[in-house]
Amino acid sequence: MLYDKVGGQEGIDKLIDQFYLIMSSDPSAKECYATHAGRDLQESAHKLKFFLSGWLGGPQLYLETFGHPRLRMRHNPFPIGVVEAEQWLYCMKKAMEHSEIPEDLQTQLFDSFLQVAQMLINKRE
Ligand code: HEM
Repeated sequence: MLYDKVGGQEGIDKLIDQFYLIMSSDPSAKECYATHAGRDLQESAHKLKFFLSGWLGGPQLYLETFGHPRLRMRHNPFPIGVVEAEQWLYCMKKAMEHSEIPEDLQTQLFDSFLQVAQMLINKRE
């Protein structure tokens, strides 16, 4: 199961903490970071951790706590263009490289993240 291969909830938590650390500090991600203006990043991280748990085949924490993810609808308030999507993926790639997730799995996960990120684009440049 993917959930186990990424190190279970502990692996997910580390990955997402790293992801948001990169997003909030790396100038190459500043437009993506800007979409989070006024949000509590701890809360954003918490939601993403819960979501990934279920998405990777672990406990359906997001569904049980917040209901159906409806990712496109929930991202509608935030302007997401190609730039923001690419930066999100850049942060995730860096965070995965920093993790202990096996390289082949990183590639597989990146492909899946790419598909979701593309679906979330709601703004034309
Ligand atoms: C394409 C670039 C993306 C941008 C700019 C973006 C931005 C955001 C922002 C600003 C929030 C609100 C955070 C908050 O309420 O604290 C959010 C929430 C969330 N994002 Fe993204 N996101 C992107 C891609 C993704 C992807 C690829 C996934 C899943 C693989 C994802 C999963 C989530 C989840 C689960 C939430 C919480 C939704 C909620 O309960 O309101 N996002 N995102």
